[in-house]
Amino acid sequence: MTDVIAGYWQERASSFHHAQAHTNWTLWHDIFAPYLNPNDRTVDLGCGTGFLSRALGQKHSPIGVDLTAGMLSFHPGPCLQADACALPLLSDSIDAIIGRNIAWTLPAAAWPEIARVLRPGAQLLLADGPWGCAPAPAGVAWREHYLSAYNEDTLNALPLARATSDTYAEFLCTFGFTDIAVRELTEVYDHELVHGTMPGHEPWRQFLITAVAPSNA
Ligand SMILES: C[S@@+](CC[C@H](N)C(=O)[O-])C[C@H]1O[C@@H](n2cnc3c(N)ncnc32)[C@H](O)[C@@H]1O
Repeated sequence: MTDVIAGYWQERASSFHHAQAHTNWTLWHDIFAPYLNPNDRTVDLGCGTGFLSRALGQKHSPIGVDLTAGMLSFHPGPCLQADACALPLLSDSIDAIIGRNIAWTLPAAAWPEIARVLRPGAQLLLADGPWGCAPAPAGVAWREHYLSAYNEDTLNALPLARATSDTYAEFLCTFGFTDIAVRELTEVYDHELVHGTMPGHEPWRQFLITAVAPSNA
């Protein structure tokens, strides 16, 4: 399954990157920055082409980690190619893991790994949505590849692909995360309704998930 997902994002890299030209960077900066300390060792998991690095600017410089070289080839800052299920990072070494639209596509094996590399009390900060039940992409060249990669078998194997806010909280609890809070990113939805979103997509519900890493992972 990882090969199928990697193959999709590898091919999607250029169209994904260029679809971000009209992003409201300030909106995304203001969602993430209040939670972050610039001196922290912060990892942007599933960083893709560097969306969060661009939104956060130079004051915060997360290290990007992503499965595919194609996505990373557009990344503007420090980054490394790795699978979230086998992170080349020391245990308890990271102060914060952030991410956008990554949790939905991670297999279960990624979560103990995320808990392992976060130091006790460290922060998990994810913006995500139930992309596995979003309307099928329309009017874009990558539609068939998406539907083939993220078919029913794949989506059924991804624990958060169709997650609600309740599912997120229950799921993270099972890995020992505490202080879990989930809020709807209504400001993103409202912005997309007015200004549109990436080609192929419709405005879609997204959440901001915050949690504290377990003390005995
Ligand atoms: C929807 S994109 C989001 C990219 C970026 N976070 C953003 O907001 O623009 C999902 C990203 O997750 C990456 N990815 C998927 N599975 C992964 C895994 N197991 N480990 C690391 N990255 C993964 C993909 O390569 C892709 O870049």
